[in-house]
Amino acid sequence: MDPEALRAEFPIVRRWVYLNHAAFSPVPLRARRAISEHFEHGEHTAFDNFVGWYERADRVRALAARLLRTRATRIAFGCATSDGVNLVANGLDWRSGDNVVTITGEFPSNVYPWMNLACRGVELRFVSTDASGRFGVSEVERCVDSRTRVLSLSAVSFATGFRAPLEELGLFCRARGALFVVDGIQAAGALDLDVERAGVDVMAAHAYKWLMGPTGISLLYVSEGALATVRPTQLGWRSIIEWKDVNRMLDYRLELPDEARRFEPGMLNFPGLVMLEEALELILEVGIETIETRVLELTDRLAAGLARRAYRIVSSRRGRDRSGIVTFEIPGRESAATVARFHDRRIVVSEREGRIRVSPHAYNTSAEIDALLEALP
Ligand SMILES: Cc1ncc(COP(=O)(O)O)c(C=O)c1O
Repeated sequence: MDPEALRAEFPIVRRWVYLNHAAFSPVPLRARRAISEHFEHGEHTAFDNFVGWYERADRVRALAARLLRTRATRIAFGCATSDGVNLVANGLDWRSGDNVVTITGEFPSNVYPWMNLACRGVELRFVSTDASGRFGVSEVERCVDSRTRVLSLSAVSFATGFRAPLEELGLFCRARGALFVVDGIQAAGALDLDVERAGVDVMAAHAYKWLMGPTGISLLYVSEGALATVRPTQLGWRSIIEWKDVNRMLDYRLELPDEARRFEPGMLNFPGLVMLEEALELILEVGIETIETRVLELTDRLAAGLARRAYRIVSSRRGRDRSGIVTFEIPGRESAATVARFHDRRIVVSEREGRIRVSPHAYNTSAEIDALLEALP
């Protein structure tokens, strides 16, 4: 797909220089068309075959699996990213004295579910990072001991944009017998992820940022190991193997499938799925490698421009540390004032933790990055 066709899917570009994917994404035009067709089709057929809709859900599962480089049976749909973290926090057989390791500066969704286990005697430990949010296996190793059950972190930090070395961390977790729980919301759809190669046990990613889908639907990847150790705590009519047999619902058979969908207790968010399907098809049509290259080119251009003007770039710009997020500060100037100044010039970025956060996607252009650079005070 050529860059113009991709850009044409996002009419927001006619109104705004939109560089805020770490916060929110517009959905592509094709997703808007599909949602209207979905409701028209429902009316046309009087919703006569809702069980058949799950064939569509399975197609979306297969698309998600292609994106994350895994099998469709390892993908479930949830609501938010937090669902994936809570699934592990609530589903493990904790013993008092166990601990969970996370990273200093983590997003609250990767902290509160573990803090909530304090009443069961579970300790939460924080790995130190440098000022750019950077850490590696050796920093993690200092916090891990024989009672560490989980390492939980973001694939990309919401605050610094640091891209965690997932493959090394996954290997480390495997060697230590800890589950590796990854919040993928700031990476999936922008960066090329391979959950199996990285030894991830559970990855969760809400659709409304880099996946360019709507709110209220998230991808959950669950490894074979996690399927064996994490007990589902939310069950419903769709939890069982034979749920499609809707005329025998009262013949209760609590047999869970050996698939990630055992974590889907009830009716799925079909409007969300329909839009997510279109967004995933678009991402796969462009190609995730192409998207990653494009996103990194744009953030490199931004970082180079900021460096020329001697602003303080917080994000690490070393090779594999880079992501779609660049955060920076202007010494002596409130970041909120700069974000407001951009907004007046119809350029959209965010302030996070007192810094300016810029997050372009693959449909953005070099000219848009230059427009931001020119609008700097
Ligand atoms: C790293 C990270 N995790 C999670 C979320 C959102 O969590 P949820 O999908 O549970 O709303 C955000 C939103 O900004 C985020 O940046």
